[in-house]
Amino acid sequence: MIFYEMNDGVVWNIFCIFVVMKYDVIDRLRKERSLVDAELRELLLSADSELIDELKRQAREVAIEQFGREIKARGLIEVSNYCKNNCLYCGIRAGNKKVERYRLSKEEILECCEQGDALGFKTFVLQGGEDVRHTTEWVEDVVSEIRRRWPDKAITLSLGERTDEDYERWFAAGADRYLLRHETANACHYAQLHPEGMSFENRVRCLRTLKRIGYETGTGMMVGSPGQTVDDLIADLRFMEQLQPQMIGIGPFVSHRDTPFADCANGSVETTLRLIAILRLMHPEANIPATTSLGTLAGNGRELGIMAGANVLMPNLSPVKDRKKYALYDNKICMDLEAAESRALLEEQMRSIGYFLS
Ligand code: 5AD
Repeated sequence: MIFYEMNDGVVWNIFCIFVVMKYDVIDRLRKERSLVDAELRELLLSADSELIDELKRQAREVAIEQFGREIKARGLIEVSNYCKNNCLYCGIRAGNKKVERYRLSKEEILECCEQGDALGFKTFVLQGGEDVRHTTEWVEDVVSEIRRRWPDKAITLSLGERTDEDYERWFAAGADRYLLRHETANACHYAQLHPEGMSFENRVRCLRTLKRIGYETGTGMMVGSPGQTVDDLIADLRFMEQLQPQMIGIGPFVSHRDTPFADCANGSVETTLRLIAILRLMHPEANIPATTSLGTLAGNGRELGIMAGANVLMPNLSPVKDRKKYALYDNKICMDLEAAESRALLEEQMRSIGYFLS
């Protein structure tokens, strides 16, 4: 008893030093915006829940320093599910003959924008498969018309790999941002996820061109895609450290029944959340969405994403009749919700965790 009393102060001091040392890795990540590989690996694999809570807490704090309690809403318009590519993970791959294909007309896209405008969206995201009917001119025309009607909105494109000229003309027509996930920064792993003819090299070429032209550029990867290792995730972090994208979209891999990866396990929600937190500390100013795939694998996945440092949500503005046809993976959420309902739901979810949707 006397022994304990005498040593209380010492034990407490040692305990404090231990706690400070334990969180040192997170403090350094926050301050230096980087860590060595072994430390990143530790954060991705650690079973220490206090350490991981602290990682997410600090990421959330940095997001609040940058953006306050505002979560930015981007109106997502899925313009076509035709795709010439045959990516092994994707539900709308060319080889999936079960998909009923659709392509929105210019008028339908403009209607979605009108609805989005009425709901208060300040950004429209036109996303689609690599549709060969989306010619340079057609996209240019749609972008010009959106720009003419809504000079103050941001126009984001996410239409895959295209030529430098396409990217240049669409930028000149008024597009300001482009999303093109790199999917994995390991060229061998890239080749396991994609068919012959697609390469990591070309993906990087596109990303560099987009940045050079002046687009706000977004990239990112699936977490837990088949064959992915922790080293691959670290390579993804290094790739983004080099590229310095303005937007970073990551979500867990979710299997789709009509793809070669039908029987593969889904990615981990927890690993995705840790990566969001790490990326927030490495890229304080980047726009990082809490993705639909995160919301698909966990009921409160998008809220958890925000609590780990994400600051963007992308509610769907696509016509409900076509929603189900844009199933990149199984059980995708919000398939039946009208744009207004989908926005209202997210507004409520954000309110419940102390944030607001803008
Ligand atoms: N699971 C999770 N994300 C997927 N994507 C495509 N297929 C899947 C899937 N099965 C992601 C890709 C793509 C983005 C539009 O959707 O990362 O870049």
